[in-house]
Amino acid sequence: MFNTFTFSLYFLLSLLLTTTTFSLPTIGVTYSTTTTTTQSPTPPPQPPQDRITTAMQNLKLTSLRLEEPNPTIIRSLLYTNISLFLTIPNYMVTPIANNRSIARAWIYTHVLPFYPRAKITTISVGNAFLDVYPESINNLLPAITNVHVSLRDLGIRKISVSTSFSFVTTVSSPFPPSSATFQEPPGVNLIGPLLQFLSDTNSSFMINLYPYNLYRLRPEIPLGIALFQEHPFNFRDDFTTGVRYRNLFDIMVDSVVSAMAFAGYETIPVIVTETGWPSAGNELDANSGYAEIYLRGLVKHLKSGAGTPLLKDGVKAVYVYELFDKDGSGRNWGVLYPNGSTKYRIDFSEASRSCLMNWNNVALILALIVVEVCCMVIVH
Ligand SMILES: *[C@@H]1O[C@H](CO)[C@@H](O)[C@H](O)[C@H]1NC(C)=O
Ligand SMILES: *[C@@H]1O[C@H](CO)[C@@H](O)[C@H](O)[C@H]1NC(C)=O
Ligand SMILES: *[C@@H]1O[C@H](CO)[C@@H](O)[C@H](O)[C@H]1NC(C)=O
Ligand SMILES: *[C@@H]1O[C@H](CO)[C@@H](O)[C@H](O)[C@H]1NC(C)=O
Repeated sequence: MFNTFTFSLYFLLSLLLTTTTFSLPTIGVTYSTTTTTTQSPTPPPQPPQDRITTAMQNLKLTSLRLEEPNPTIIRSLLYTNISLFLTIPNYMVTPIANNRSIARAWIYTHVLPFYPRAKITTISVGNAFLDVYPESINNLLPAITNVHVSLRDLGIRKISVSTSFSFVTTVSSPFPPSSATFQEPPGVNLIGPLLQFLSDTNSSFMINLYPYNLYRLRPEIPLGIALFQEHPFNFRDDFTTGVRYRNLFDIMVDSVVSAMAFAGYETIPVIVTETGWPSAGNELDANSGYAEIYLRGLVKHLKSGAGTPLLKDGVKAVYVYELFDKDGSGRNWGVLYPNGSTKYRIDFSEASRSCLMNWNNVALILALIVVEVCCMVIVH
């Protein structure tokens, strides 16, 4: 009897361990200097040395997305264990598409001197490129391919290459999420070949996803569902899948998942390259109270490991927009003030996530032991 008991306990414990070692979404943050992603080839101002590293350490964040990476910033992050997501500026996409040497030159300046001492994991070729250069859309995939091939030619296999889209221009209506599809300008065939590339190279589909923007475009959306507020009336049902959604973030993520599935690719991981809520500005709902509620709700949701109804493991990573408020920009999206002091009380740390998991494990293990002992008693 004892043998059966230990064996089945062992079996259940191993099952438990395998089911709880899935990884939670990585939470990162974006650092940017310019207020728009337009064609400004002027170098952005240099940040004070260590400003970013100090801020990341204070927030206990270990993933950083750089919107305008420059060698000085990347150098300041050597040996910090902060994983880096680099963005190639939109104005370089067409030159890179036309000439692979330009892709190679970019890598020689931004990657080779630092990698792997700087943990560069991902490169986005452009950011919301379609919104800024719709007439050059056919250059996007050739540019991505040139960056990918150049990295491989240089023997770098662990950096994945993709591009980020903005939700409102790329995904058709997200109500209900299961009917969402990708929308492309007439005569353009980008998404299908891009998804094939991402699938072939184990890369992720990347999307800038702002419940704030969708909420502002759609007056019928209640504020609470955009802010992760739990309330009996804060839900939207998807009658096709029979799923009840309680927050707009999940609705938007599942729309992306549905659109990918409709295109024939459902297993490509999703990275949310930007999300956030402004703490100031002319709009009614841009205030620090709502911004804090949104970010806290987002972090709690991601740490819970609940995923989304269609994506059990959830998205692979989420980058909050953004690290610092920009001085004098009016709409403030920063998690920190320009002087680096904290705006919100939010715990981003990995530590509290693994701690949460451990306590869950302990509780489950205790419950299993109780069940086992009861079974033994009944059998006897
Ligand atoms: C980076 O991570 C390694 C291994 O996890 C650790 O030994 C090292 O102390 C870390 N370095 C910093 C600067 O945190
Ligand atoms: C590609 O770029 C390199 C470096 O800028 C330049 O030397 C070369 O002439 C370019 N090739 C073409 C075909 O434009
Ligand atoms: C993608 O991942 C799979 C499984 O992890 C691996 O077998 C395959 O070689 C990878 N492909 C590339 C191109 O890295
Ligand atoms: C930083 O800026 C904020 C907002 O302007 C202000 O409230 C805070 O006192 C400043 N902190 C320091 C240390 O200057």
